[in-house]
Amino acid sequence: MAYQLISVLRDTEDSRLAVISLKRPDVKNAINKAMVAELTRAFDDLREGGETGCVILTGEGPDFAAGADIAELRERKALESLAAINSALFARIEGFAAPVIAAIRGYALGGGCELTLACDMRIASETAQFGQPEVNLGIIPAAGGTQRLPRIVGLGRAKELVLTGAIIDAQEALRIGLVNKVVPDSELMGASRKMALTILKKGSLAIRMAKAALNQSARMNLDSGLAFESTAQALLFESEDKMKRMTDFLQKKKK
Ligand code: COA
Repeated sequence: MAYQLISVLRDTEDSRLAVISLKRPDVKNAINKAMVAELTRAFDDLREGGETGCVILTGEGPDFAAGADIAELRERKALESLAAINSALFARIEGFAAPVIAAIRGYALGGGCELTLACDMRIASETAQFGQPEVNLGIIPAAGGTQRLPRIVGLGRAKELVLTGAIIDAQEALRIGLVNKVVPDSELMGASRKMALTILKKGSLAIRMAKAALNQSARMNLDSGLAFESTAQALLFESEDKMKRMTDFLQKKKK
């Protein structure tokens, strides 16, 4: 079934790179339930379809996403909130086997900001603006915002953002470590693609294991995390890709 509120395209040069765009630019790509359902399906399709080694997630038009759809949120009650559909999607993205890069221009607010937090790396255009303004609406960031944001920027900075609802620009986001880099708006997709193609050159099994092990660092205590890391490494030591890459390196040295 075709998508209405997002698009999913394969890179013409390397089809292992998929680019997903949010497509509700009239409402600044506000994330409604239908969009969450399409994004969930898109990530499932990418997992099951041909090999995907990296995903770029971006917004169509001048913004990434100005939050969850407030028209829907206003009508939502406790039971539906507890279904945590946005939270479940974001966990799926964080747990997606291959890296996901958020390419952000314009507003990334509320659920839009939380969506970028679930991605592995964030590249911002100079136009990007970030914030968790939920307290202005009498709610809290509850699609991972109170948990992922402090892990990325530290507890003090996360508290400032969540408790004041402040909106910060791309340079401030870079300063506090919320984004990995800031580029001119015209270079946003080029810079994101460059990072994706760099990742695609690496051993795909190693990339998957590295992402999985890094994700565990936020979940497990140090001993469990180190045990996970060692197990992942042991599996990689048996992989054909590792043997080939190390042999290539050693043979090049001999020439
Ligand atoms: N949900 C639903 N609709 C939204 C939206 C959201 N989160 N964010 C923006 N929109 C809609 C606006 O209602 C408006 O629709 P309209 O043209 O039918 O009136 C359209 O997108 C354009 O937004 P507008 O507010 O006119 O643009 P602006 O440039 O004046 O302000 C923002 C931009 C982002 C500052 C403002 O839209 C805003 O504060 N949005 C909500 C941010 C928020 O609280 N997000 C957290 C939700 S949990």
